[in-house]
Amino acid sequence: MTETQHKVPGHVPESAVVSWSHYDDPTLRKDPIECYDVLRSEHRAFYSPLHGGFWVLTHYDDVLDVLQNSSQWSSVNSAIPTRPNRLLPINLDPPEHTKYRKIISGSFSPTSIQQLEPHIRKVTRDLLEEVSASGEFDFIDGFAKPFPSTVFCAIFGLPQGEYRHFIRWTEMLLHSSDMKTRDRVTIELREYLRTLIEEHRANPRDDLLNHLMEAEVDGARMTEGELLDFSHTLFTAGLDTVTNALIFAFRHLGLNADDRRRITEDPDIAPSAVEEFLRLYGFVQLTRTATSDVYIAGVEIKQGELVLLPLASTGRDACAFEDVDQPDIERHPNRHLAFGAGAHRCVGSHLARLELRIALEEWHAKFPNYTVIQPSRPIGHGGGVLGLDELRLQIEPK
Ligand code: HEM
Repeated sequence: MTETQHKVPGHVPESAVVSWSHYDDPTLRKDPIECYDVLRSEHRAFYSPLHGGFWVLTHYDDVLDVLQNSSQWSSVNSAIPTRPNRLLPINLDPPEHTKYRKIISGSFSPTSIQQLEPHIRKVTRDLLEEVSASGEFDFIDGFAKPFPSTVFCAIFGLPQGEYRHFIRWTEMLLHSSDMKTRDRVTIELREYLRTLIEEHRANPRDDLLNHLMEAEVDGARMTEGELLDFSHTLFTAGLDTVTNALIFAFRHLGLNADDRRRITEDPDIAPSAVEEFLRLYGFVQLTRTATSDVYIAGVEIKQGELVLLPLASTGRDACAFEDVDQPDIERHPNRHLAFGAGAHRCVGSHLARLELRIALEEWHAKFPNYTVIQPSRPIGHGGGVLGLDELRLQIEPK
């Protein structure tokens, strides 16, 4: 993408200016997580004049401060480049945000999610039936994409046979810096969701979309626009995130035989391994807007300026974690920020954790031996969700 430089505002010190794009800087292509190690070692905060201009905070404590203070840091219209956004509940601030979030918090509570375990295990086992006991395997297309998508389609009320189409939309919405592409995909997605809502109206079912359609805010049902804004958030959050978590986790295990052996021999450590993978490879990049002038991380940020909060950087901050560079799949405590913090902390975290745990357990019971086939090209990508475009595994017989 060719990006024009925004004029650097006068209050930004020259030493804090770095012309850097979280969408397509070449370092992201090489390694979308490790590139933050260099940025963090050089800057606690820096200002990029690209995409209309935005700040980047690289330290755990500063990011946590922002996430926990939604009166100072707003989620409304927060996007880089800036644009009107009203996805529900993610682009609202409290107290309005609280009313909308409440609609789904019950459906994603630990108790509700626990009931899905047999279904999620069956989806996993069915998919693993398709994997050959030895040879080369495309982990992304063969498992990381279909697994969470199949689970989410069933929860939300989407036809499972069309999941590849949904994934393509989500990828373009979350990874592309081309606003025209994103606008076009948004229109297509919303048209699709509109038809799905009509079908549900004619033929109500026991799924999340039906629940949204019947939910009330301040004593009234949501408008069609609100329903679309809500469904849009769940659609993007539910389809792409666990896929990326799986890719990073299995790449780690494919490259670290000792960790792989420990999980295979003692599946009870799967939950803590999941947390360590989320710390090491936190891939979500959040955005907030300053509601008034503020000093943070040694810089002044003016009212209306945008900040990028790369959670990948926080998990590798030596001020927040002991032996930060040393992966420890039994690390405790592990207060990573991969699910965010404060009012918007991930509503789907219990579902994500359950899916990841089951994937680790079921996969290693069947395929304990595998290695990563080294890609012949740089495979990282940036955007709202960082990720890898290729993960090919060489599976060896048990
Ligand atoms: C490993 C997987 C996941 C990660 C790392 C993740 C991460 C996050 C993060 C960092 C936020 C905070 C957004 C903000 O502060 O602006 C968030 C919010 C959210 N996530 Fe997740 N997520 C994951 C999976 C899921 C899943 C599976 C779902 C649902 C199907 C989901 C639904 C949501 C929703 C609805 C919000 C908005 C909450 C609000 O605004 O109050 N997430 N997620």
